[in-house]
Amino acid sequence: MKKIAPCVIWLTGYSGAGKSSIATELEKQLSILGIENTSLDGDVVREGLCQDLGFSNQDRAENIRRVGHVAHQMFEAGLVVVCAFISPFQNSRDNVRSLFSGDNFIEVFVDTPLAICEQRDIKGLYKKARAGEIKDFTGIDSLYEKPLKPEIRIEYQYSPSPLKAAAAIIDYLTTHIRTDN
Ligand code: ADX
Repeated sequence: MKKIAPCVIWLTGYSGAGKSSIATELEKQLSILGIENTSLDGDVVREGLCQDLGFSNQDRAENIRRVGHVAHQMFEAGLVVVCAFISPFQNSRDNVRSLFSGDNFIEVFVDTPLAICEQRDIKGLYKKARAGEIKDFTGIDSLYEKPLKPEIRIEYQYSPSPLKAAAAIIDYLTTHIRTDN
């Protein structure tokens, strides 16, 4: 039977782009297929492993560096690892990629335009950032570098569907990251 081999699926995009919802759906679909998986999410990691870090450029780079190494350990243990982080810097994402050989790092750009993330403002953070109550907010007063060559780009503009996005990622994995074992 063709199965998906261990790999890291790296979801990047603005806050509120839909990364976490896609990650949750993806985990569900992978489990249904009998593929062992786990996830790492910015909001969760920042409550523990990275609770000492803020949102300066330097702290974000350190956040992604740590998470990259954790993801690599999980990958080595044989899991499909779903990561959902804004990870705004190409350099940081490339550094994580360099931990993996071959095709095992899949960068997924959750390409929801900033204006739509801000309009939805699910956590109310954009409003706070505009009011100056939060500093260094991605897209407001902190940079987001769009991926130059993501393996997958999810256009997430008009009708966000985590289910469809996850299915598109699974489709990619079954053709590119499969194993015959
Ligand atoms: S990253 O830039 O270091 O990759 P990460 O994905 O871990 O960010 O965390 C982003 C989450 O932290 C956002 O979804 C949001 O809920 C919260 N957050 C709080 N302050 C900020 C900020 N200044 N910029 C971006 N996200 C913030």
